[in-house]
Formats: sequence, structure tokens, C-alpha cells
Amino acid sequence: MTIITKVLTSDGARQSFTINDGFGDKTINGEKLLALPGLIDPHVHFRVPGMEYKEDWVTGAKAAFKGGYSVVFDMPNTQPATTTQQRLIDKINIIDNQIKNSGLPLKYKLFFGADKNNFQEIEKVKDSIVGIKVFMGSSTGELLMDDLSSLHAVYALAKAFNLTIALHAEDELIIQENTQKYALETDFKYHSIIRSVDAAVRAVTTVIQLVKTYGVKSYILHLSSFEEIELVKQAKLAGLPIFAETCPHYLFLDDSMYDELQGLGKMNPPLRNKVHQDYLWQAVADGVIDTIGSDHAPHTLDEKQQPLCKCPSGVPGIETTLPLMLTAYKQGKVSLDRLIGLLHDNPQRIFNLEPQNNWVLANIVDYKPLTNDKLCTKSKWSPYAGMNLTGYPEYFISNNRLINLQNLE
Ligand code: DOR
Ligand code: ZN
Repeated sequence: MTIITKVLTSDGARQSFTINDGFGDKTINGEKLLALPGLIDPHVHFRVPGMEYKEDWVTGAKAAFKGGYSVVFDMPNTQPATTTQQRLIDKINIIDNQIKNSGLPLKYKLFFGADKNNFQEIEKVKDSIVGIKVFMGSSTGELLMDDLSSLHAVYALAKAFNLTIALHAEDELIIQENTQKYALETDFKYHSIIRSVDAAVRAVTTVIQLVKTYGVKSYILHLSSFEEIELVKQAKLAGLPIFAETCPHYLFLDDSMYDELQGLGKMNPPLRNKVHQDYLWQAVADGVIDTIGSDHAPHTLDEKQQPLCKCPSGVPGIETTLPLMLTAYKQGKVSLDRLIGLLHDNPQRIFNLEPQNNWVLANIVDYKPLTNDKLCTKSKWSPYAGMNLTGYPEYFISNNRLINLQNLE
């Protein structure tokens, strides 16, 4: 039996956790630890199948637990993309095997990719997926739905089968026009100019129109600008079933950091300026933003060190979200209740997940610089390396099992 004593809970009380694991008696002093429900990440790219050199479900599962998560929703922009029933079945088999090999009790759900030609597959998979993912603008992989008639078709199907749609809302036409216009630019800051706020706003406007027409529950991924927030706020006030995610990179990085970050600051949608960032924090505080997804999208350091035109978009993030957010909590930027809402309660409610009896215990007293060598992701780098953070998870309690996260590597 292991007892972890005097752990702080989110309501300010101190509590002991007893784990009957049959490994002999041990007492751990939990005075520096805060207990939170095991986190849910509604947005990861664990790269299986086809890009296992970037991540797989062994390294992904370790990275998830290291970050305090026991549930993840994986995206379909793999190789091949998850766009048929057979590919979904194959993917589930590989994932189940890899999770078994990881030895960790990771739970997962999968988004199914919609493209312009696979509508007939949606009915076949409707009971096995957490929702449909639509890329309105192109990003990593080939998935793209940039025409209104396909969007109407997928919304009609989602309505018929009572499915949720998750949207990467950036307008492809604007992105393509800007890509041509700035084709010769090499400074990474042009990534934010090419994938402009206008591109995001135009796509979010289209989504809201579709939700008005079909009433389909829609989850807008990675909001990054105040204009999108305003649109979503109005849509919510009008009673539409729209939910909004942002990601840690938009809250903790901004477009003044390209000189330092270079390709490590390249993701889609791109980094914005501090005015947008302040609005995002406001939207986090007042509840317009429902969730923070890590958008854990690992690429190798070699890939990320290529020039702008070749550098793939995406940053790893599942291991750093909680320390970043708990550091922000300690700075008074977000309340603990809101933090738990964003990282657990809201994803659970929006996607109707069964409750989990899991706890993550994070050290909210000590500060230390984030170092790449401690990361479990295969990519082994972070845009936050060097930041002095608190809130690193130390233990995970899952159904009478104690996982010492400090030993995970
Ligand atoms: O930056 C991004 N990376 N945005 C996406 O939409 C996809 C992701 C990836 O899979 O690499
Ligand atoms: Zn993503």
C-alpha cells in the first residue's frame, strides 16, 4: 500500500491518497503536490500510421502521462489518412498493440477524416468515432475540404447520424493567394502573414453559417485571433451548439518570437501578436474558450530546421500544457476551476465521455527550466525549452495503480 499524504485539492483542502497496489508499504510526502482529475486532450497527432518516425503510441502514451493526460483524441491526417472504415479498423489495431506495449493505461478516441470523396464511409464508422474532422485549409497531410458543396454534404450527414464535426477553420483560397504573393520570402514571420487572420475569420464565418443551417454540434479547433473569438461569442449567445478550443502556443508564444524560434514557431494556424493573445486569455477567463487542446503535432528537429518553404507546421505540446497552465495559474492569469474546466471537465462534457477515476498529482511549489532531454515525445524538442515553469506532474493514479512519472522517459 502506498500513501501520498497532505496533497492539495482544487478546493483548497489537503487529502491523502491511498493506493492498494500490493507493492509493500510506502509513504510519500505530498505537500508540494496538487491533485487534478486525469486530463483529457481533445487534439493530438500521434502519427500512426505512416509517420512513426515522428511519434507512435508508445512514445505518445508516455508523453501523454508525463503531461498528466490519460485520454487523447487523435487526428486523421496520417499516411494514409483515416478516411475509410478499413483504415480506421487497421489504425485501431495498431494503436491497441502499441498502447499494450507502452504498459500505460491510455484511453483514446479517433476523429475520422472527411474528404470530398468518402461520404459513403461516414455511416459505416459513425459508432466508432468521436467525430468528423474537416480541414477547410490545407495543413500536414492531404486532407482538404475547401468547397462549400462538400461542406454542406458533410454537415447533412453529421446531422443525420448525430455526429460532432471538428474543424480546422482556415480559408484555403486566401492561403493559396498569399502563398503565391509571398513565395520568395524566407523570414518565418511571413508564415503569420500568409495564413492571415482573415483566412481564419472567413472560415469561421462559414462554419457558423453551417451550424445555423444544420444545428450540428461543431468544435472549432485552435482559435488564435480576437476576431474569431468575437464571432464565436456571438454564435454562442445566439444559442448555437458551437464549442471553441485554443492551444498553448497561442497563449504562451507570439509572432515577435520568430527570430528566436525560427521553424520551431511554425504551426497552423500561425502565431499571432500580443493583442490577440490578450484577447485569448480574456476568452479563457470568461468561458468563450471551452478547451485547451495541445495540438501535439511532432516533427523531427531536422525537419523543423529547414527553411520556411520546407519546414512542416506543428509543435509537440502534450507534455508542456499542464506546467504552462499551472505556471499561469500561479501568476494569477487563470483560476484553478477554469483550468480544470479547460483541460478536463469541458472536453468530457462536450464529447460525452464516461467519467474516469484518475488523478494527476503535479508539483506546484518548485520551479525548474523546461529541458528537452526530459521529454518523452519522439521529437525531443519543445518551443518552450528554457522556460522556468512549475506544475510538472510527478504521479498519476489510475484505478489503484500508481505511476511515478518522474521515472518515465
Ligand atoms: O501545425 C499544425 N500541425 N497544424 C495542423 O493543422 C496539422 C498539424 C500536423 O499534423 O502537423
Ligand atoms: Zn492539429
